Amino acid sequence: MSRDSEVNHPDVILCPGGPMLLRGDHVVQDEDGNEYRTERPVSAVCRCGGSKIKPWCDGTHKLLLKRPRD
Ligand code: FES
Repeated sequence: MSRDSEVNHPDVILCPGGPMLLRGDHVVQDEDGNEYRTERPVSAVCRCGGSKIKPWCDGTHKLLLKRPRD
């Protein structure tokens, strides 16, 4: 068992109505095959499709949640 697997927290967190949080170093590939490396302690990946800095979350999901539904 590696030291990382002994840490008592998830590496990936799905935020309801918001981003996917990644803990630690990752390479994220978008739908076009472009790869984005992150070495930040925590990175937020957009899951709503509204971010202007994809693949990263820019907080736009908060505005989308406030929109009235048809
Ligand atoms: S999840 Fe935050 S902008 Fe898409």
